[in-house]
Amino acid sequence: MVKVTVCGAAGGIGQPLSLLLKQSANITHLSLFDIVNTPGVAADLSHINTVSKVTGHVGNEQMEEALKDSTIVVIPAGVPRKPGMTRDDLFKINAGIIRDLAVGVAKHAPKAFVLVISNPVNSTVPIVTEVFKKHGIYDPKRIFGVTTLDIVRASTFVSELIGTDPAQLKVPVVGGHSGVTILPLLSQVSGTEKLSQEQVEQVTNRIQFGGDEVVKAKAGTGSATLSMAFAGARFTLAVLDAIQGKTGVVECTYVNLESDPEGGKAIKQVVGDDVTYFSAQVELGKDGVSKILSVGKLSDYEKKLFEAAVPELKGNIVKGASFITDAK
Ligand code: NAD
Ligand code: LMR
Repeated sequence: MVKVTVCGAAGGIGQPLSLLLKQSANITHLSLFDIVNTPGVAADLSHINTVSKVTGHVGNEQMEEALKDSTIVVIPAGVPRKPGMTRDDLFKINAGIIRDLAVGVAKHAPKAFVLVISNPVNSTVPIVTEVFKKHGIYDPKRIFGVTTLDIVRASTFVSELIGTDPAQLKVPVVGGHSGVTILPLLSQVSGTEKLSQEQVEQVTNRIQFGGDEVVKAKAGTGSATLSMAFAGARFTLAVLDAIQGKTGVVECTYVNLESDPEGGKAIKQVVGDDVTYFSAQVELGKDGVSKILSVGKLSDYEKKLFEAAVPELKGNIVKGASFITDAK
């Protein structure tokens, strides 16, 4: 039995994400949770002729039945940006939403793998960690910030420049998930040696601020939903493959460095001991994170990007963690 619960399932990301997950033969129960509209979304999806059962659950009183026995909980619940906002501006509303959902997971699905999409990811993942610590169920190997959209964008934008198949091109993107904390490692991608430094800087900036491109184009109606659903489904199914025993599954994802058997030593050597969360290439296994891979060799330009990212990332992490630890 594999139950995947989507929290925020009636939303802009939640609906297409649920549609993509409904297509997986590896999911036996797709549980849709939101504060509105999930019975309708569930009824609609349940007519699709794939194996999974689909159920819809609305509001706090139905949270337990939504979450109970979940293998994976994916969370795209919360408000999206409007033009002129940063992801951090969403903290005020989304921090409380994530806290309450994390409490629900701690109580009703303490063994679930939790995949956090809601922004600001750099801070919402530490919120989940601290809630789980308070409930005595913390396992860093099971908590992931979903940064796959940065990877998907990087493959697309770099392929446009170097003329490769974007579905095959892998571009590592590490760090965090907001502006300057997003660190594309183009120097490690074969084919980019033909780009000028100016092109490298332009495409790096485009990857870092790809989210803003969509927010601007959507002109006040939200942020990336369809590309995020694609990325979220890809990451969810990769985690599922790994926990079901597939080997060699590696995805970039934002995790607590404690999840690594060596405490993220390879990352800390580059970013310093006081960075506690980082998105890196992570080898996934039956228990979740099995190993965090080194960021590899960096160009001088990338080293400068790291210097700009680290202070912002640290601030985002402290802000998320202290939202729970400092709460009365
Ligand atoms: P949306 O407003 O369309 O949908 C959000 C859904 O969450 C709504 O259906 C809403 O009812 C629901 N919700 C609100 N509070 C809830 C609660 N307490 N419990 C359950 N559900 C609740 O927004 P969206 O466009 O789907 O974006 C959702 C979040 O994902 C935003 O924070 C956005 O910034 C983030 N996002 C992250 C990435 C990423 O790369 N990680 C990419 C795109 C968007
Ligand atoms: C994205 O990268 O598209 C998301 O984080 C949404 C946003 O606010 O940009």
